[in-house]
Amino acid sequence: MLGTKIAGIGYYVPEKVVTNHDLAKVMDTTDEWVQERTGIVERRYGKKHEETTTSMAARAAEVAIERAGINKEDIDFIIFATLSPDYYFPGCGVLLQRELGITNQEAGALDIRNQCSGFLYGLSVADQFIRTGMYKNILLVGSEMHSMGLDFSTRGRNVTVIFGDGAGAVVLQPTEEKGKGILATSLHSDGNYAEKLAFVNPGAHGGYHAKYMEEDPDFGYSDAEFGEMFINEHMLETGQIFPHMEGQFVFKMAVQKFPEVILETLAKAGLKKEDIDMLIPHQANLRISQFVQRRMGLRDDQVWNNIQKFGNTTAASVPIALCEAVEAGAVKDGDIVCLAAFGSGFTWGGAVIRW
Ligand code: UT7
Repeated sequence: MLGTKIAGIGYYVPEKVVTNHDLAKVMDTTDEWVQERTGIVERRYGKKHEETTTSMAARAAEVAIERAGINKEDIDFIIFATLSPDYYFPGCGVLLQRELGITNQEAGALDIRNQCSGFLYGLSVADQFIRTGMYKNILLVGSEMHSMGLDFSTRGRNVTVIFGDGAGAVVLQPTEEKGKGILATSLHSDGNYAEKLAFVNPGAHGGYHAKYMEEDPDFGYSDAEFGEMFINEHMLETGQIFPHMEGQFVFKMAVQKFPEVILETLAKAGLKKEDIDMLIPHQANLRISQFVQRRMGLRDDQVWNNIQKFGNTTAASVPIALCEAVEAGAVKDGDIVCLAAFGSGFTWGGAVIRW
C-alpha cells in the first residue's frame, strides 16, 4: 500500500497587523489581560473588498503547489477547511478552484466544516484517498477570515481578542518510501457540547436547538408557517449573529483532549511521547500549548507556537505553524512531527508524520 507525504507547504497571512492596544480602543480590554490569558500580542486582519477566505487560501496554495513542483492543473482533488466561508453555499473548495484558475473538471472539491480540527480531518481524508490510489495530488487548505464576523463591542471581547485571519496549504502525494509521510491519524467528536463554542446564526435551525443555549436562547423566531429568515431583528439586536464561547469549559476540555489524542496517535504509529521531535499544536491559547508541552515532557524547542503574532486562526493554524517550522529549519528530514487540534463541535484529532 502507498503512503502519503506532504510534498509542498505554504502559508499566507494578511499584511494588516492588529495589536491588543488597537482592540482596546474599540472594546473594554487591555493588552495585559489578553497577553496574560492567551499569550496573544497581535493578529492579522484581511483587507475588506480585496481579500477573503478563498483569496488567502489561493495565496497559500500557490506556494504549496510551487514547492511540490507540480502544475496547478495536476491537482486532482481540493479539500477546503474553514468556519468562515465566503458564501453560505457553495463552499470555498470550488471558489478556490476558480481563484487558482484550475480548469480541470476531473478535479473534485470538498469543504470541511470542523473548525479548529478541520485541517486534521482534511489530512486524514486525503491520506485515505491517496493510500487507496484514488488521487495523486490533493490540495488541502485551512483558511479563515475571522475579522469579518466578530463582535467588536465589549460584549464579544472574550471571543474577538483571540481570533486572527490567515491561510495554510499543503499538497499531498503518494510515497513508496516505507515509514515516511503520514504514519497515523486520529479523529474524534462529541456533539453534546456543540453550543459551547458556536456561531449559530445565520442558520436554518428555526430555534430548534434553543434549549442547548445557556445564554440568549430566545432566537426571536415568529410562528409564521413559511418564509422565516436565517437572521431576524432580534438576533441582530442581541448579538446572536456572532460566535459564542464558554471559554473556561472549552479550555478544560482542550487540556484533556490534546494529550489524549497525541498519545493515541503516537501509539497507532508504534511510537511514544519521547519519539516526538516537533509538536505542532493548534494555536488556541498559549496557556493550552504550554500545558500540553508539560504533559508531554517536551522542551521549548520541540513545540511550535506562533499564536503570539497571529492569534488563533482556527483551521489555518496547524498548517501555518507547520510551514513556519519547516521554513525555519526546525523540522528536518526524518523527524517525527506530531500535529494536534481541538475545538468547536467538539471535534479533535491528531496526526503523526515522519518528515
Ligand atoms: O480554538 C478553539 C478552541 N478554543 C479554545 O481552546 C479557547 C479556550 N478558552 C480560552 O482560551 C479562555 O477561556 C479565554 C482566553 C477565551 C478567556 O479566558 P478566561 O480566563 O477563561 O476568561 P473568562 O471568559 O472566564 O472571563 C473572566 C473575566 C470575566 O469577567 P468577570 O465576569 O470575572 O468580571 C470576563 O468578562 O474576564 C473578562 N474578560 C475580559 N476582560 C478583558 C473576558 N474577555 C476579556 C477581555 N478583556 N478580552
